[in-house]
Amino acid sequence: MELWTSARRSKVIDVRGVLGVLVLFYTIGVESRKSVKWDYFEYGASSCRAHSASVSDFGGVGDGTTVNTKAFQAAIDHLSQFSSEGGSLLYVPPGRWLTGSFNLTSYFTLYLDKDAVLLGSENESEYPLIEPLPSYGRGRDADGARYSSLIFGKNLTDVVITGANGTIDGQGELWWTKFRAGKLDYTRPYLIEIMFSTDVQISNLTLINSPSWNVHPVYCSNVVVQGLTILAPVKSPNTDGINPDSCTNTRIQDCYIVSGDDCVAVKSGWDEYGISFGMPTKQLVIRRLTCISPTSAVIALGSEMSGGIEDVRAEDITAIDSESGC
Ligand SMILES: *[C@@H]1O[C@H](CO)[C@@H](O)[C@H](O)[C@H]1NC(C)=O
Ligand SMILES: *[C@@H]1O[C@H](CO)[C@@H](O)[C@H](O)[C@H]1NC(C)=O
Ligand SMILES: *[C@@H]1O[C@H](CO)[C@@H](O)[C@H](O)[C@H]1NC(C)=O
Ligand SMILES: *[C@@H]1O[C@H](CO)[C@@H](O)[C@H](O)[C@H]1NC(C)=O
Ligand SMILES: *[C@@H]1O[C@H](CO)[C@@H](O)[C@H](O)[C@H]1NC(C)=O
Repeated sequence: MELWTSARRSKVIDVRGVLGVLVLFYTIGVESRKSVKWDYFEYGASSCRAHSASVSDFGGVGDGTTVNTKAFQAAIDHLSQFSSEGGSLLYVPPGRWLTGSFNLTSYFTLYLDKDAVLLGSENESEYPLIEPLPSYGRGRDADGARYSSLIFGKNLTDVVITGANGTIDGQGELWWTKFRAGKLDYTRPYLIEIMFSTDVQISNLTLINSPSWNVHPVYCSNVVVQGLTILAPVKSPNTDGINPDSCTNTRIQDCYIVSGDDCVAVKSGWDEYGISFGMPTKQLVIRRLTCISPTSAVIALGSEMSGGIEDVRAEDITAIDSESGC
């Protein structure tokens, strides 16, 4: 392991078992180094898509009880035709929008009004079963298939999930109860999972009560996660905040996370599956993070990290109540 020496660094955490070259800075109140390597990507796309629609144009009703899964999927399927014509934005108006899992498309922005709440359905059938991740070989909660995340995207380019601090509420209680009782047939859904995608931004939202992990970019590149407030009860199981997993070039910044598990967990697959998939997480910067995770880490490396972790920088991190730094 290489450790840079710098008078501006206030504390260096020793990290064991990290593959590749890991440089972990743990600085408080210090400006970033002169290198601008981390600042190459900025997406302003959310405000300039050529086409837009509201979920209420597709039969959606934000009354907290109508199931809107079909409305969301119909809206996004319709908007996907504009991917080569300037892209599109789906607006979610004020209201409580109950929905099961739906899939995103490319050159697309999902935008939540500040008074919009997406409510994750408590009906398991509203979450299609999908294959385990190739780098894990099995689900984390159970063998075999796993439930698709509430918001899911696969093989996409340029996808933005944002809003004026609108809320996504996973209504995780039911899932936590089943998990604790050992009654899950399949692995719990995440709140947001984006797989095999490039140019991904998740910003300016409040995420609460995820059934399991909150934000899971996996096999992605050029990922920005910014301005999120993530809240879960500190005793809720596996409610990790943000889990960059086998991703290249990821920036996580200006997030406030209260979690029953790690605030950020850097991953790259599990045992022989992770080794044979061989996709490390690399070029990751985490800054201006505030974390409350009384039973877990501020930034965990692993536990699943069999594909390796390289080039991680963390700076300007505030831990209010955590078991460990990393
Ligand atoms: C989303 O896509 C996955 C395949 O990537 C599919 O299994 C699932 O059924 C889709 N979900 C919906 C709601 O259409
Ligand atoms: C759960 O969702 C499935 C599929 O959408 C539906 O057929 C079923 O009626 C729902 N169950 C309840 C209790 O709402
Ligand atoms: C998604 O991308 C992966 C990796 O590039 C590829 O193996 C898979 O076939 C793609 N799936 C679809 C539906 O395009
Ligand atoms: C977003 O909403 C959360 C929850 O109400 C709040 O704690 C947070 O300060 C808000 N963030 C911003 C930037 O307004
Ligand atoms: C997020 O909110 C901040 C503060 O309100 C705003 O300056 C910024 O443009 C927003 N960013 C995105 C990507 O929506």
